[in-house]
Amino acid sequence: MQVDVAIVGAGAAGLFCAGVAGQLGLKVLLIDHSEKVAEKIRISGGGRANFTNRDLDPAAPHKHFLGENPHFCRSALSRYTPQDFIALVQRHGIPFHEKHKGQLFADRSADDLIQMLLRECEAGGVVRWQPCSVKNIRFSAQGPGGAVIGSYEIDSSEGVVTASSVVIATGGLSIPKIGATDFGYRIACQFGLRLVEPRPALVPLTFDGAAWAPYAQLAGLALPVQIETGAKKARGAFHEDLLFTHRGLSGPAVLQISSYWRDGQPIRLNLAPDADLPATLARAKASSRKLIANELAALVPGRLADAWVQQDAAWQRPVNEASDKALGGLAERLARWKLTPTGTEGYKKAEVTAGGVDTRDLSSQTMESKQPGLYFIGEVVDVTGWLGGYNFQWAWASGYACAQAL
Ligand code: FDA
Repeated sequence: MQVDVAIVGAGAAGLFCAGVAGQLGLKVLLIDHSEKVAEKIRISGGGRANFTNRDLDPAAPHKHFLGENPHFCRSALSRYTPQDFIALVQRHGIPFHEKHKGQLFADRSADDLIQMLLRECEAGGVVRWQPCSVKNIRFSAQGPGGAVIGSYEIDSSEGVVTASSVVIATGGLSIPKIGATDFGYRIACQFGLRLVEPRPALVPLTFDGAAWAPYAQLAGLALPVQIETGAKKARGAFHEDLLFTHRGLSGPAVLQISSYWRDGQPIRLNLAPDADLPATLARAKASSRKLIANELAALVPGRLADAWVQQDAAWQRPVNEASDKALGGLAERLARWKLTPTGTEGYKKAEVTAGGVDTRDLSSQTMESKQPGLYFIGEVVDVTGWLGGYNFQWAWASGYACAQAL
């Protein structure tokens, strides 16, 4: 089979890019090794796909995206914006709603979005081979009769395909059980492109069993916190909900901070970010005879207050009998809880993969790599968005920029 463009990976970026390219008149073949199409869209956003975010500011991508070059995504994000994708969703009559912090979700189910992307592909005459595995991709600079054309030959389980361009949209390593592979990274290496080492991101953090034992009893407890890690340009800070788990910490606050966290680095938490702890405890000391844990329960959940005071005998007494030093220490520890994760829950729980194809080897205008005719879009690229619909918007925007250039 001979096509203008072969796209490997029928996930968010691949499907979207295929539809746009097909509707621009290109003959497009979309290949995916999974039985089912776009499983990650299906499970996203709790089954309702948080498909974009209204707060995304394309002029300041570093606010919501990470990567070795956080400005790389500016061009694509400003040429295909959340408003553009919202207009597409509206044209397809898909009902949606806004939740928290600009996050847009489908009202019914993520399947509405998958069906929309498939209809867009159909409108562009896209041929989809699925399941189909790719064994090999070869570049040939010479065509029949020795003419310099530059084309690709793809050995697939459905036969050999010749394509003028190849787009790699195979995503990252997260959730291997639904088809994630390192294919994109291997192809990048085969063609001499650099990689930023992949790592799990938007992922729960774990702690050493013995050190975590005092907090394991809090599993299931959620509360709003201020969380931060890193310094200067690599600093992340969020005011979001935290969730205690048996092995460590999760919830939106920790998923967000995990993308900034590096091995060996501490995270810092304020467990009562909306309270003036020293003033509240000083007032309580002057007017109350209740146990410190009971006073604390007005500021943080009762289970946390009870567990927290177990850390120091000086906190296990009526507040009016506590020393100023003990109360000061308690306020300080709640507001500046510093702890060092031992790891993450890994790719089986990570929503995305940070790192990937090094943006120094890609064009920010077109997503074409230094290898002519070979493009990379979506999560396989070293562009990682915050939780909240930013990763899908990157998939749409990078797919659109690529399709315009093919
Ligand atoms: P994607 O992973 O979507 O697609 C890659 C495709 O390539 C897959 O279909 C795979 O089968 C195929 N493939 C892989 N290897 C292959 C090979 N060797 N040969 C052929 N095909 C191959 N983001 C967001 O913005 N809002 C949200 O609500 C969520 N929610 C969410 C929940 C969960 C549980 C996860 C795991 C992730 C999210 N995300 C998210 C992240 C989002 O799903 C992700 O960033 C995008 O799907 C990335 O789109 P891509 O097209 O790059 O990869």
